[in-house]
Amino acid sequence: MRIEIPAEAVCPLLAWYEANRRSLPWREEPTPYRVWISEIMLQQTRVEAVKPYYERFLRELPDVASLAAVDDGRLLKLWEGLGYYSRARNLKKAAQRIVSDFGGRFPASRRELLSLPGIGDYTAGAIASIALSLPEPAVDGNVLRVIMRLTGCREDVSRPAVKLAVADALRLIYPAGRCGDFTQALMELGALVCLPNGEPLCDNCPWRELCRARREESTGEIPVKSPKKPRREDALTVFLLRNGDSAAFRRRPKSGLLAGMWELPNVGGTLSEPAAFALAQEWGLAPRSIAPAGEGTHIFTHRQWNMTAFRIECEAVPDTFRWVDRAGFEAELALPSAFRCFLDALWR
Ligand code: ADE
Repeated sequence: MRIEIPAEAVCPLLAWYEANRRSLPWREEPTPYRVWISEIMLQQTRVEAVKPYYERFLRELPDVASLAAVDDGRLLKLWEGLGYYSRARNLKKAAQRIVSDFGGRFPASRRELLSLPGIGDYTAGAIASIALSLPEPAVDGNVLRVIMRLTGCREDVSRPAVKLAVADALRLIYPAGRCGDFTQALMELGALVCLPNGEPLCDNCPWRELCRARREESTGEIPVKSPKKPRREDALTVFLLRNGDSAAFRRRPKSGLLAGMWELPNVGGTLSEPAAFALAQEWGLAPRSIAPAGEGTHIFTHRQWNMTAFRIECEAVPDTFRWVDRAGFEAELALPSAFRCFLDALWR
């Protein structure tokens, strides 16, 4: 498959970007480290949500050496609420590799960047173009959308071959000396004008005269995407176990969803109140009272949890769980967002 992007598209896009770019923290001083952290955070997370995390992360871990040496618990705490925690673990692993294999200096080619944990085509292209000014595309959903519309291409953007074809087409037109601006201009056009849901703002678009989808009135049909598999739904019963000022937490298994993260104790299925009470007895908690504590839903990429919670006052504190009070919890344990809907009921 071949995709052709008209070379005349470059200048108007750069001029538009100059005039319309948002001022974002990672755009000041785009060093490889700063671009890397921002691009990893921005995968799966919105710009507005990322900003405070980014600032705090950079303040505490300003360079590769500090990231390579950070305590795992502290790292997860800095990431708490962003989700997809393997991103944070891979950041640390990659920082350690930069220290051990690259003498602490950030790799300066796409090939070397790709050798690091958590860095794939997109991130390597983003760092290479934005921080190192190399003509390397970074093709995310935004970029796919703007290029498919510009060219009127109806290939299925879920296919890896389409992403590769877009990257190849872009590589041919990267403007020397403006590589970082070009990458970010493509992303910015997708974020501000060539919108994914609802009508794109074609009147404001630097490509309004060039865009094939606009000419053919097909922006509503492009990009073409194959339907996603429906998400698997799991029912879960969550236990808000209290003993005096303390509450119970435990670690998730080392592999799988939310690997190694802290969680509120839970079991699969929706238990009745008596069944939940009986299970608490079986766990050796010497439960004194039980009360329903609400419901919650959490959506992951491929899965949805439908949770029902019970709050149980316990007389015993078996060490199968970690018992901490609220201050200890807030200082030390990173709890995935899925469980945070129960925190009010837990600490009440
Ligand atoms: N989304 C992904 N990368 C981005 C960037 N560098 N600026 C704005 N939005 C982005």
